[in-house]
Amino acid sequence: MKKIAIITGASSGLGRDFVKQIDRKYNLDEIWMIARREEKMNNIAKKLKKAKGIVIKADLLKLEEIEKISEKLYKEKPKVCILVNSAGFGKIGNFIDLSLEEQLSMIDLNVKALTALTYKVIPYMPKGSRIIQIASSAGFLPQPGFNIYAATKAFVIHFSKALNIELKQKRIKVLAVCPGPVKTEFFNIASSKGKPLDWKSKLMVNSRDVVCKALRDSDENKMESIYGSLIKGFKIISRIIPHSIILKLFKWN
Ligand SMILES: NC(=O)c1ccc[n+]([C@@H]2O[C@H](COP(=O)([O-])OP(=O)(O)OC[C@H]3O[C@@H](n4cnc5c(N)ncnc54)[C@H](OP(=O)(O)O)[C@@H]3O)[C@@H](O)[C@H]2O)c1
Repeated sequence: MKKIAIITGASSGLGRDFVKQIDRKYNLDEIWMIARREEKMNNIAKKLKKAKGIVIKADLLKLEEIEKISEKLYKEKPKVCILVNSAGFGKIGNFIDLSLEEQLSMIDLNVKALTALTYKVIPYMPKGSRIIQIASSAGFLPQPGFNIYAATKAFVIHFSKALNIELKQKRIKVLAVCPGPVKTEFFNIASSKGKPLDWKSKLMVNSRDVVCKALRDSDENKMESIYGSLIKGFKIISRIIPHSIILKLFKWN
């Protein structure tokens, strides 16, 4: 039975770096790469060193496309050693200023698709396998001006930590990755209607470093991966200072 990894959001950013690093670090037969931009995934697949890259063009906002992945799993019955849910997007702006459609899409991709795919994949995961969910430090706190996105990521953090406990019996580990700002295409999409993000670009870290730490943390059976002392500090502050006080410091608009 072939051993595989399934990685969503494989066409760019963190997902692309997970594809590259998982290929080098583990001995897998195939990496199933999922996103909408086929061409980009084909180029990444060509450069893999060990595993065969299987490109699956899918729009995860459509549940029927998740169903097609489920059917492929049922037909081929691989051992899924690693699942990485990295597909996701955020839109900056106040709740009433963004369209309802784009906010519901954030929920559909960041929450619904991640939940559905996790559910469909678990039956194919053997003992010792791992699920890596890409959350965000945005999920540590309510975030005015990034409201729905932060709420979707809070869901991912809570869901992943509870699932980690639920799946202990099956010896499947679950890691929530909570990055701060990372240099990817994310902010091009997030800020299309928003404000300049100069302050964020100064804080941005490299995607490959976040991924390297996440894989190390998963190897060490951690349930949360936070890269960088700044974001670790942010997490501590979000735990010890009441949210009502922190929210007063938010400068938005
Ligand atoms: N960059 C940051 O600062 C940051 C910080 C914290 C957390 N995150 C999280 O990290 C994850 C990866 O984001 P990134 O930073 O790597 O951004 P990115 O470069 O924009 O990557 C997003 C990925 O999601 C895929 N995607 C988007 N919509 C999709 C859809 N409808 N169906 C299937 N795939 C879809 C994109 O592929 P296609 O466009 O080809 O479909 C792309 O591969 C996201 O969950 C994001 O929330 C990012």
